[in-house]
Amino acid sequence: MYWGMFAKVESMGVYALKGFRVTVEVDISRGLPQFELVGLPDSAVKESRDRVRSAIKNLGFEFPVSRITLNLAPADLRKTGPVYDLPILLGLLSASGQIPPLSESAAFAGELSLDGSIRPVQGALTMALAARECGISELFLPAENAAEAAVLPELRVYALKTVSELLQHLTNAHLLSPMEYTPFESLISHCGLDLSDVHGQPEARRALEIAASGGHNLLFIGAPGSGKSMLAKRLPGILPPLTQAESMETTQIYSVAGKLDAGSRLLTVRPFRSPHHTVSSTALTGGGAIPRPGEVSLAHNGVLFLDELPEFQRSALEILRQPLEDGKIVISRAAGQATFPCNMMLVAAMNPCPCGYLGHPTRSCSCTPSAVDRYRSRISGPLLDRIDLHVNVEPVDYESLSSMHGGESSETVRKRVIAARQIQHKRLASAGISCNADIPDSHLRSLCQTTPSATRMLATAFDRLGLSARAYSRILKVARTIADMAQSEKIEEPHIGEALQYRTLDRNVTYHF
Ligand SMILES: Nc1ncnc2c1ncn2[C@@H]1O[C@H](COP(=O)(O)OP(=O)(O)OP(=O)(O)O)[C@@H](O)[C@H]1O
Ligand SMILES: [Mg+2]
Repeated sequence: MYWGMFAKVESMGVYALKGFRVTVEVDISRGLPQFELVGLPDSAVKESRDRVRSAIKNLGFEFPVSRITLNLAPADLRKTGPVYDLPILLGLLSASGQIPPLSESAAFAGELSLDGSIRPVQGALTMALAARECGISELFLPAENAAEAAVLPELRVYALKTVSELLQHLTNAHLLSPMEYTPFESLISHCGLDLSDVHGQPEARRALEIAASGGHNLLFIGAPGSGKSMLAKRLPGILPPLTQAESMETTQIYSVAGKLDAGSRLLTVRPFRSPHHTVSSTALTGGGAIPRPGEVSLAHNGVLFLDELPEFQRSALEILRQPLEDGKIVISRAAGQATFPCNMMLVAAMNPCPCGYLGHPTRSCSCTPSAVDRYRSRISGPLLDRIDLHVNVEPVDYESLSSMHGGESSETVRKRVIAARQIQHKRLASAGISCNADIPDSHLRSLCQTTPSATRMLATAFDRLGLSARAYSRILKVARTIADMAQSEKIEEPHIGEALQYRTLDRNVTYHF
């Protein structure tokens, strides 16, 4: 009998993007056989009891027949999911003296199969970051998730396939070797799609480069097959590579959403998310009883592409307005608030009319003017206002398409984008922002200075086109980016002129390509 025995095992929990230490305390005392689990566990954690009981027996150990009290501390944080299976099993074996006591600087997480193999968990990188914060030096994780966590030099990460191999390690029978630490620099890679595949389309390419340089949102309008989707998919490849901090954020979001492939390390390519237009508001922004990130957060530090924009449910698009402005989404639940970042570039695409051929050089459009109006009105003004660049994509001409040479490569364009971003960084770092698109209105005057003639031009355009206040600030920011690309200290007339061209939908012009 194991009466009066006590054991402690460290583990890590995750809620949204917050990791925290959880201590599994096991007490075995005299009394009727009973197995009680306390410390705010959810139903998945409660089911641990049955999995652990079977696993212990199947491994050939003895399940203590006594009064067992198991506490997950701290008691005020809700524990979710099956990650505590493994530390609970270790706690029971240790309290019953079947394995030696466990070190306080080692933490364990993993779901158990009944046969003693260990199944993957979500949020391994978040656990690793939190483990480092609270002085844990060894983290034992399911084999599928270990690579993702082995990116911190201060932490030894062990990859586990079965409980048996872990028990052999803990009893010094057969030691496991920790995962090799992978420095971030060795992981950097780029998006596989290259801009050189796009033939012709100089205007659309230019707009894409401006968007990338200043972090601006972009809307492509054009006939079917004009290359809108093709261009959008190549945007991540001309953006600067992810920094280590950005990569950590993005990888954590994918990890807690359960969207990382087994064995994957840090994500180094900027995300490109392209949800279908039937997507629900919840799938777009995130939610659920245990909050999970939605598409906008999966696009964090990358691109959210909304193809066929007018086909999206209006409610789904409206819900985007606030996250687009704030760069984060807050989900409130009884268990607490979950915040997911969603600082992404929005790229949208649409046809100019329901049939798609309004203004087409060779094909005629079969839509009535009222059908065109209805189609356009599906996108609300406030959303359109948040898109800085409206770009008409004309069908590519035969000559460009059939030419042997495509356009400039993504690498060439990316170099210019990085140069433009460096200029912005120097100007904006003190204001705590990274690109022109994020300049707050309060800083607009000081950060977007125009020459007198550029000021006059903007004033005239404002009156003549009836622009909104938001459109005005968007134009100034885009012009600032165009000036940065030209390495011009002040915003000059041609920069304003070009920025104004990208407000087609504000001007409510009919298409006359
Ligand atoms: N400029 C171009 N250079 C090379 N290929 C092109 C170009 N434009 C279009 N294509 C070819 O046409 C195909 C269709 O392009 P894409 O899907 O980007 O069109 P789209 O504008 O998104 O059309 P839709 O409105 O139907 O979604 C591409 O896969 C590509 O093969
Ligand atoms: Mg398309």
